[in-house]
Amino acid sequence: MTDQDQNLAAVVNTTQGSYRVIVGRGVVDDLGHELKKIGLQGRAFLIADYVMFPNPVRRAQEALERGGYETHVLSLEISESNKNLETVQIVYEWLADLRAERRDIVVAMGGGVTGDLVGFAAATWLRGVAVVHVPTSLAAMVDSSIGGKTGVNIPKGKNLLGAFHQPRLVLQDVGHIETLPPREMAAGWAEAVKHGFILDSQLLDMFERLAPQMVALEGDEPVDAIRRSVAIKGEIVSADEFETGDDRVLLNYGHTIGHAIENVSGYGTYLHGEAVAIGMMAAAGIAERLGMIDSELVDRQRSVLKAYGLPVKAPGLDIDALIDASKSDKKSRGGTIRWVLLEGPGMATTRRDVPEDIVREAVQVVLD
Ligand SMILES: NC(=O)c1ccc[n+]([C@@H]2O[C@H](COP(=O)([O-])OP(=O)(O)OC[C@H]3O[C@@H](n4cnc5c(N)ncnc54)[C@H](O)[C@@H]3O)[C@@H](O)[C@H]2O)c1
Ligand SMILES: [Zn+2]
Repeated sequence: MTDQDQNLAAVVNTTQGSYRVIVGRGVVDDLGHELKKIGLQGRAFLIADYVMFPNPVRRAQEALERGGYETHVLSLEISESNKNLETVQIVYEWLADLRAERRDIVVAMGGGVTGDLVGFAAATWLRGVAVVHVPTSLAAMVDSSIGGKTGVNIPKGKNLLGAFHQPRLVLQDVGHIETLPPREMAAGWAEAVKHGFILDSQLLDMFERLAPQMVALEGDEPVDAIRRSVAIKGEIVSADEFETGDDRVLLNYGHTIGHAIENVSGYGTYLHGEAVAIGMMAAAGIAERLGMIDSELVDRQRSVLKAYGLPVKAPGLDIDALIDASKSDKKSRGGTIRWVLLEGPGMATTRRDVPEDIVREAVQVVLD
């Protein structure tokens, strides 16, 4: 048992309470102890992505038991294609069979799909039971495990069902991502690096300077960088929990064109983070054409993204289809797109008045 204060990345403050986000190597061994520290009682229902079975799941279970929790485990094959109500139903039936009560705790262990789906089950089971996230993909660590958004897909669209249900604790063990496939890893870095570009030039410098070491997950620096990236997400969620203000929207940097690329290429062709990286290049091209940034920063962004194994172009996609898809992105209201654009390294802002010909020019560059 270790004191986790040196691993504390963020304290997220929300209307549903405050919670700690812990990031470090081996921290999963303290799962039970950490739950006890925040006063959670009842039994622990650990629901894990099947890829984490058996060893990491067992290790988490043992940690819960060491904290004195009676623990039940369900491992499920959870992926984007079954992130739906049928899978949630399997979770409900399991909870019902074991008579899970209001005071019990659901622990979600896996990537963002698992976190969203299990979080949704926890939000709705008995009108809401405590959920704790143990994200195991880099994307889930630096992004989806923080902020309380949960949800599942229906045939009409992605994430159309959901609830805000904030976790009571987020425990991120960097050891978990060592088994993550390289493309998934790169996709996670895209979101982490994005945090540097929009809000933290020091973090950006670190990502730039130490890319090979980061990619290899060598030494303490990658853990520090993940912790800082998590802190940025935590600060934004604390400032703008329901995305009604001007803060949380900045996280959508690269996402307007990124979502359009996912949509037009067919979901699954590009991983979300890959599409975001290309979207960031399009957004940088827009900012450059508007005179907000110089070409040096655009080049810098390109080389950083490449250093993390990310694509910076999506050759062959149809420009008209992309422009249309970007207009129907849910972040656009009343027909005008709210673009998140850089003003400098670590500085982002939003603009609604971007002429379509400028968008076209910048998007065309990433399609060539
Ligand atoms: N709630 C939010 O705020 C929010 C934000 C962004 C994205 N999301 C959601 O997150 C989901 C994407 O999350 P993701 O990128 O983590 O995808 P994912 O959960 O599908 O995980 C990616 C892949 O990696 C595997 N995996 C996970 N951890 C692993 C590990 N440690 N070792 C080996 N393999 C591992 C998974 O089985 C999967 O095949 C989407 O459904 C998206 O809607 C939610
Ligand atoms: Zn994203």
